[in-house]
Amino acid sequence: MNFLPLIEAKRDGRALSPQQLQDFVRALVAGELPEYQVASFLMAVFFRGLDATELPALTLAMRDSGEKLSFPDDPRPLVDKHSTGGVGDKVSLPLVPLLACLGFRVPSISGRALGITGGTLDKLESIPGFTTQLPRQRIIEQVQSLGLAMAGQTERMVPADRILYALRDVTGTVPSVPLITASILSKKLTESLDALVLDVKFGRAAFIQSKEEARTLAQAMIGLATSCGVNTRALLTDMDTPLGQAAGNWLEVRESVECLSGRGPQDLRELVVALAAHLLLQTRRETSPATALDRASTCLDSGLPLQKWEAMLAAQGADMPRYRELLGRDTIADTVLELRAERTGYVGRCDARIIGETIRDFGGGRLTKDTVICPEIGVDQLGKPGQRVEKGRLIARIHATNKEAGEAMRHRIASAFSLTESTTPCRSPIAELLMA
Ligand code: URA
Repeated sequence: MNFLPLIEAKRDGRALSPQQLQDFVRALVAGELPEYQVASFLMAVFFRGLDATELPALTLAMRDSGEKLSFPDDPRPLVDKHSTGGVGDKVSLPLVPLLACLGFRVPSISGRALGITGGTLDKLESIPGFTTQLPRQRIIEQVQSLGLAMAGQTERMVPADRILYALRDVTGTVPSVPLITASILSKKLTESLDALVLDVKFGRAAFIQSKEEARTLAQAMIGLATSCGVNTRALLTDMDTPLGQAAGNWLEVRESVECLSGRGPQDLRELVVALAAHLLLQTRRETSPATALDRASTCLDSGLPLQKWEAMLAAQGADMPRYRELLGRDTIADTVLELRAERTGYVGRCDARIIGETIRDFGGGRLTKDTVICPEIGVDQLGKPGQRVEKGRLIARIHATNKEAGEAMRHRIASAFSLTESTTPCRSPIAELLMA
């Protein structure tokens, strides 16, 4: 394929035909295109965007680039959630077992960390023995028997996104509404879903920083997924501050288990329950928002989602005695340092970008495609905006590989906080709901 005319057309702002985009995806997956041309094309899309014909054409070509999941007929609706990515965003870990206990089937195909945002697969892989690499048939069988599976794309699922995702990560082309839309929906549309709920993040640590642009992204995804027959809603949620009080792979697993035990931070619980309630409404399992919220909340407190989570861990190879032993420890890191408030006041800012960058730079995320993640790195017991703190009170704990790294992390994490004289009300993480 001669790809140059397509790059030039996009560079000059001309629209590509569905056939040209299909040819591009086929050649990409066949390994026929040099990475520098694909990178150049991505940058042209970044600046020029995709129009209302190009976006579905690219997304569907990507979806069709590999194998799909198809499930036997079953009264339990197939649902999933996807987040555009954030710091401390462990929502899928408690949400997926909760959904399975609410009577859904959840074939949750998740991703790895991208930029400073964490990845569900990386968090799950901090559990000893747990595998996220399940063959397609295994995913289908486990979803049918247990109601859930949390896995990565197989080699043969959506290969076009795998190639583009990795290239975007290292070419500055992640924060693009059409590229994020095509990336997320190409994956979600392979799952044969009845309903999808999207958590579209905006703010300091999100790919899309402004609420207006996040709304545009949410509307693009809702429009396209709905036109493909998937009932889709989106919540716009705040990502100026990490979600919950912990960030870092293992620490987020711990906090998720707290949430599954009916405890843990309020903002995390609120978002998990709200997302589950929307799926109950979207699939007409409930008709009133209040009863949907109540049902999701009661189910979360019943202990059944925690049992479901453990059943999934065991089914996907986790070493359960070791997992329980690690869970019983205060930390699995070599060093834990404390950060304490220098004066009395209210937490005004707890900057998710600085926290995400620090965790990534000290080994909790990836700086290159080949980085091996250290699951123990992270922060917990974060002070959250609006919280009153007395001088000397703990506002973060830093989990590090050694004392020297811990001191350097603490210095950077300290700059994520500012204290104010007057209180700001604790805000809900949910800013807006968007529906088809
Ligand atoms: N998550 C994805 O799956 N793709 C993106 O492009 C961004 C977030």
